[in-house]
Amino acid sequence: MRRSLVVGNWKMNGTLASAEALAKGVIAGLSPSSADAAICAPYVFLPKLQDLVKGTNLALGAQNVADKESGAFTGEISAAMLSEVGCKYAIVGHSERRTYYGDTNESVAARFCQALSKGVIPILCIGETLEQREQDQTFAVIDEQLAAVINAAGIAAFAGAVIAYEPVWAIGTGKTATDEQAQEVHHYIRQYLAAKDQTIADNMQILYGGSAKPDNAKGLFAMPDIDGGLIGGASLDADSFLKICHSV
Ligand code: PGA
Repeated sequence: MRRSLVVGNWKMNGTLASAEALAKGVIAGLSPSSADAAICAPYVFLPKLQDLVKGTNLALGAQNVADKESGAFTGEISAAMLSEVGCKYAIVGHSERRTYYGDTNESVAARFCQALSKGVIPILCIGETLEQREQDQTFAVIDEQLAAVINAAGIAAFAGAVIAYEPVWAIGTGKTATDEQAQEVHHYIRQYLAAKDQTIADNMQILYGGSAKPDNAKGLFAMPDIDGGLIGGASLDADSFLKICHSV
């Protein structure tokens, strides 16, 4: 049985004080019946948040990780550094990274491998743009994004990973995929993995992301292949994030 997981992606928002208040609010509201929960915070808030989440049910993550181990890579943050500040997870391949900062399938694969090598669980984001969906390329895009990482890391590596399906047209737009649209792609992803390794596919947590909110989370999470969510906007408010955590 797969456990449900809800991950907040705070993106580039907040202050140190607001981040602490938000984390405290989330910690206070989590209950044993909630989904497993994590917050992916801006890098500079991580050390402070590490202290706050210690001994609680809330796990910590980063929003990206370097594609190299260490060295002269100005501005980058390595997987070892994330591990040192208590990160259990690191998002890799978020569409905002792919769109605005030039992350490619290959560099995403390298980030994925770096995270794994230091015991940080990569949350691999994949998903199509509106244009790609309208041209019936959704599955081809998913194939390509998954293949790049499987070729680099090997299918066995996915035992230590999480996948987030995030249709780009649904991120931050208020346009959520319908339960059926999301399920269709989640099922496709699981079948794709199953063709390579049935056990990995059966155990893979596949999260949905893209305008997930308290009022649509229940329907999405009830779908057989949706194991939780990667939550952007709605994770910036403790109450709405907690409602989503309680929707599993
Ligand atoms: P959103 O973002 O929930 O604000 O659409 C999701 C994400 O980008 O991970």
